[in-house]
Amino acid sequence: MKTTLSIIFTLSVFLAGAQKFDGLALTPPMGWNSWNKFSCDMTESLIRETADAMVASGLKDAGYEYIVIDDCWHGERDSLGFIQPDPVRFPSGIKALADYIHSKGLKFGIYSDAGWQTCGGRPGSRGREYQDAQRYASWGVDYLKYDWCNTEGLKAEGAYLTMRNALHEAGRPIVLSICEWGDNQPWEWAGPIGHLWRTTGDIYNCFDCEYNHGTWSSWGVLQILDMRKDIRKYAGPDHWNDPDMMEIGNGMTVNEDRAHFSLWAMMAAPLIAGNDLRNMSPETIAILTNKEVIAIDQDSLGVQGFKHIDDENFEVWVKPLAKGDLAVCFLNRAVEPLDLNFDWKSNPMKDPDFDYTFDFTRNTYDLLNVWSGKQQGTTKKVLKASIPGHDVLMFRLSAN
Ligand code: GLA
Repeated sequence: MKTTLSIIFTLSVFLAGAQKFDGLALTPPMGWNSWNKFSCDMTESLIRETADAMVASGLKDAGYEYIVIDDCWHGERDSLGFIQPDPVRFPSGIKALADYIHSKGLKFGIYSDAGWQTCGGRPGSRGREYQDAQRYASWGVDYLKYDWCNTEGLKAEGAYLTMRNALHEAGRPIVLSICEWGDNQPWEWAGPIGHLWRTTGDIYNCFDCEYNHGTWSSWGVLQILDMRKDIRKYAGPDHWNDPDMMEIGNGMTVNEDRAHFSLWAMMAAPLIAGNDLRNMSPETIAILTNKEVIAIDQDSLGVQGFKHIDDENFEVWVKPLAKGDLAVCFLNRAVEPLDLNFDWKSNPMKDPDFDYTFDFTRNTYDLLNVWSGKQQGTTKKVLKASIPGHDVLMFRLSAN
């Protein structure tokens, strides 16, 4: 009897075909994650207050929806092997926290690791994938960030496939955020497995620097922008390149934060805030909730932007948008201001990977300056402006 049941079970899994939950990230996920600001130092009250702040600050209305607890929420496994939260930091348990977040109209995300321990030394999911997935589903988890520390001997594709299948088996639609830092070229295999995949090592809270930790480095905004060229063709609706969570509001200048947000939008990056939402300056809120920039990131075409001009400290990034629109971002990488004198007509913009060409001798476009919120003429005229150091000028162009 037992054997027959197990054959039927195996057969039904096979016939049903374990797969990724489709359609959960048709545009890049938006939310908040605890790691960049709080690392291991988080409690259930911080997470509840963050959910409150996401609503009160206007971030929810702007499109942010996931509240994700990163590493170090874990306690011990129980006698049956089920993972439990740290009883001191999460005394009410994870289900109660997820319920609270859901009651605010938000979604809840959690973190684990494909290895035997997380990067922070907490219990990993290795060998416990189905059990962990079942637990997450019963708690009401909507998003899983799945890390790659302590995975010696594992193959990334297989390890992430196992967790994908485990989530599918658990039955609750959960976004799978793959976090192996681009080490195993996930863009080549992760499309049917996860909804987003990290492309680089960790971000560091600076615009232009490398922070050396000894055996590894974390990276500034420009360093991440420069890594992993030529993978934009692998990204699209439901399968995104993820250049890591944002550092906006964590101490860079307003110009740098504005450039950081603009560039993440040009890359169709997941917009996961990493600051303290309970204490934000008006400038930080204005950046994180800029509707025009968010609309560029969230555009339904789902095409990641490309670099059109690379001239030392001056770069021009272009992102094709739905309905024939495009976004153009002029980046000044230098500390000094840059004088811009840009003749659209002598700059046809041709997408190197997809079939989009924008020729300004044939079509004229209206320019919406997405940071001032004002219309700024058309592409008939040469664009003259000064771009402050470590800042951008960014437009939405619509055919007129
Ligand atoms: C890795 C990830 C980070 C964060 C930490 C937690 O470094 O890349 O984003 O999740 O682990 O320990």
